[in-house]
Amino acid sequence: MTDPTMINVAPFESALGAEIRGVDLSDTLSEATIEAIHAAWLDNLVLLFRNQSLRDEDLVSFSRHFGELDMVPGWEPFSPEGHPEVLVVSNVQEDGTAIGVLGDGEASWHTDMAYIELPPPASLLYSLEVPVTGGDTSFMNMYAALEALPADLRQAIDGKTLNHDSSHDSGGNLRPNHQLFGDLTEAPGARHPIIRTHPGTGKASLFLGRRLHAWIVDEDIATSENILDQLWEHCLQANFTYSHKWQQGDLLMWDNRVTMHRREPFDSGARRVMHRTQLKGDARVEAA
Ligand code: SIN
Repeated sequence: MTDPTMINVAPFESALGAEIRGVDLSDTLSEATIEAIHAAWLDNLVLLFRNQSLRDEDLVSFSRHFGELDMVPGWEPFSPEGHPEVLVVSNVQEDGTAIGVLGDGEASWHTDMAYIELPPPASLLYSLEVPVTGGDTSFMNMYAALEALPADLRQAIDGKTLNHDSSHDSGGNLRPNHQLFGDLTEAPGARHPIIRTHPGTGKASLFLGRRLHAWIVDEDIATSENILDQLWEHCLQANFTYSHKWQQGDLLMWDNRVTMHRREPFDSGARRVMHRTQLKGDARVEAA
């Protein structure tokens, strides 16, 4: 069993993120160890565990310490045999069939499943095979982005709600079983306050989901587009981000409520195989 006193939290020299050292995630972890990891996760938003050797059952059992697991609707065929809670993110094809989702292109900045009523609080991504170059994943600290927001822009979004389009994925592709819609006001999806309070920390952050097809409810489209362009320009400043260069055996766990992430494209001839889990949103926690 991992000794909790051995956990070492080493924050990155970035706007967010920390490496946790001294933990073997395939081990049986004590309650104190899980509490220490949970506290570090709330403080640092993204946690990195290097040099892990995890079977799908280890990934699932570690993830379950933090809540019930959920699946991404429509992506059920991309789970490994016997592990419906695990999603394969990969460009690899076997016998002409993709083994995973998202291919080798860019996954633009997004919060996972912001387009549902209760988005997942956390996602975990474990690297089995990584390309030599490309495929880095960047994260953005949405507390910091809100804190630094110019006052006039903050005033423009205060009390406003954003519609998060559910019909397109972060590669910009139409999801299975979805149709194209007319204008932005007709986009399907969930509506969330643009400024949200984190239930675990009580701190406010920006919650933008995705840029594509977003609409500030009750604003005319031109005004909404103008405000959103300014918000995104502000957020995309490098001082709110951390960029992760993957090594095989890395596990990243992020707080999906207060971060966005982006995956850069990579060479289509290279192999990238990641296994992913996500937690189910819990109405009792979100309302606390
Ligand atoms: C994701 O957007 O969840 C996948 C990120 C990645 O492939 O690095």
